[in-house]
Amino acid sequence: MSEQILVTRSSMPTMEEYIEEIRPIWESHWLTNMGEKHEAFQLELQKYMGVPNVELLTNGHMALELSLQAMNLQGEVITTPFTFASTTHAIVRNGLEPVFCDIDPETYTMDVTRIERLITDRTCAILPVHVYGNICNMEEIERIAHKYELKVVYDAAHTFGETYKGRGIGNFGDASCFSFHATKVFNTIEGGAVCYRDPEMGRRLYELKNFGIHGPEEVDAVGANAKMNEFCAAMGLCNLRHVDEEIAKRKVVVERYLEHLEGVEGLHLSRPQPEVRSNYAYFPVVFDEKLFGASRNEVDDALAKNGIGARKYFYPLTNTFECFHNKYDVDETPVALHVAKRVLTLPLYSDLALEDVDRICKIVLELRR
Ligand SMILES: Cc1ncc(COP(=O)(O)O)c(C=O)c1O
Repeated sequence: MSEQILVTRSSMPTMEEYIEEIRPIWESHWLTNMGEKHEAFQLELQKYMGVPNVELLTNGHMALELSLQAMNLQGEVITTPFTFASTTHAIVRNGLEPVFCDIDPETYTMDVTRIERLITDRTCAILPVHVYGNICNMEEIERIAHKYELKVVYDAAHTFGETYKGRGIGNFGDASCFSFHATKVFNTIEGGAVCYRDPEMGRRLYELKNFGIHGPEEVDAVGANAKMNEFCAAMGLCNLRHVDEEIAKRKVVVERYLEHLEGVEGLHLSRPQPEVRSNYAYFPVVFDEKLFGASRNEVDDALAKNGIGARKYFYPLTNTFECFHNKYDVDETPVALHVAKRVLTLPLYSDLALEDVDRICKIVLELRR
């Protein structure tokens, strides 16, 4: 049997490139607190993402949590449960109430036809997720937000490097929150960023990420600590040089998967979206047991037996988490529940060998009955 294949593998520069990047940190002894690398990376990101404003943070979760806090919101936030724990936790940890909207069965993003009926006089914001890098119906979300005067914060953790109608994906909504976690298309080991519209939001984010400190003797706000350190920023500078190449390699892997799996009865695959430059972040497959002949769990087990790590991403739904003690009714998001029970994301990273993709697909297809 060949070696183990994990669901993802972090992109890294050569060690030499990273050492060159961190050499000045050794010389200056400046390890964190908005040093040279932090400032350089923030600027490079702004250019790459084509956005007017970006604030670096320790991780994508703090990007979400502090964005909501920066907006001084109260009441209910419309979101989806088909996401990583972070999205819902960011809402709850701000003392806000998540209101779960179902998802679209094609893109797995918020079903925009269901948003308006969830709006009450307590709704303050919409927090949609560009899940797997599939872009939400932003025109409709922003039309609704404008009509009801709601804030829009996108969970853009999966969308680094994507564009919509030629514009960087960070340009939409009041804020878009990115994750640069080790498992993402682009990583800074741990890290995150917020792209935002209003400069006042930038000032708030800065004080929230740095204890509210404005000067050596000036603390104006009750902030947290969510600063990106110099080593992470240096990793970001290195990985940013190669990210387009990484995305191009991912595309080749995805195309190989499609060669094997497209059109197979009982498998539902994500379609390319019009006017979106994709980053090929994930390869989710929804298994219809009756039509395909094997369930998602059977496929997952068969892959695991062969040393291949797929992931039930996103299962369970966040509105069923034990920490919420049955507070939410999962029957209100039936499409999300349907998908969560059947979805499996297959291994995908830039240097996944095409022969390994062939092997993975062979194992999957052999389960057809
Ligand atoms: C959809 C989504 N939102 C938020 C996060 C949180 O990002 P981080 O792990 O960088 O805190 C993640 C990922 O890990 C994610 O997948």
